[in-house]
Amino acid sequence: MNLITLTDPRSPVAEAYRTLRTNLSFYSLDHPIRSLVVTSPMPDEGKSTTVANLAVTMAQSGRRTILVDCDLRRPRLHTLFGLPGEPGLTNLALAETTQPPLQKTAVENLLLLASGPQPPNPADLLGSRMIDRIIETLMEQADIILFDAPPVLAVTDATVLGAKVDGVLLVVTAGKTRRDHATRAKQILETANVRIIGATLTNAPKDTGVGAYYG
Ligand SMILES: Nc1ncnc2c1ncn2[C@@H]1O[C@H](COP(=O)(O)OP(=O)(O)OP(=O)(O)O)[C@@H](O)[C@H]1O
Ligand SMILES: [Mg+2]
Repeated sequence: MNLITLTDPRSPVAEAYRTLRTNLSFYSLDHPIRSLVVTSPMPDEGKSTTVANLAVTMAQSGRRTILVDCDLRRPRLHTLFGLPGEPGLTNLALAETTQPPLQKTAVENLLLLASGPQPPNPADLLGSRMIDRIIETLMEQADIILFDAPPVLAVTDATVLGAKVDGVLLVVTAGKTRRDHATRAKQILETANVRIIGATLTNAPKDTGVGAYYG
């Protein structure tokens, strides 16, 4: 399990996620961000880990939080929370169910909408009007909705979904994400009029000085 915000809430890493939460809260005081897609330029850069831990800290601060697994190609959020991957978003999109099949997590205030069965055309599904309606429905039940999504440079899913939400957070990994990939991802999102809220650096070397100072 990689939910350090649950397993070790007093660790510097968990503290870093709380700082990220605070920064997001201050980002737009007049129009608080209520829907956020987390993505990265390339695969395996820590998107799912980041969005899950961010969701835990949001929920821990008392906000009604819904985490949606929109990485329909490599869904992983349900595994992080030890829950089944179905039913989920795709069942809802296929109108097999009218109520979102939200699953309770081990965290108070945090519900998960898993991916559901893998569709043949994830980008089309995420771009559909059905997804707008699903987001509206979820909004009625949550203060904030966080979406996991595939990498920007691999497929259009994150860009398509990003255009439907308040903003996108880009995850970049120290020592891994290439500068030109990050630049390219930013360009793709901006071209599609997606609002990039910021970037978060994972796997950064520990700054023992700061950690020691705050004890
Ligand atoms: N901050 C971190 N420090 C070290 N390892 C990490 C960190 N975040 C994630 N990892 C590890 O990196 C791997 C990929 O993480 P994760 O699944 O979150 O990435 P992803 O970008 O969602 O991948 P995918 O493209 O497959 O969806 C996992 O094994 C995870 O445990
Ligand atoms: Mg992932």
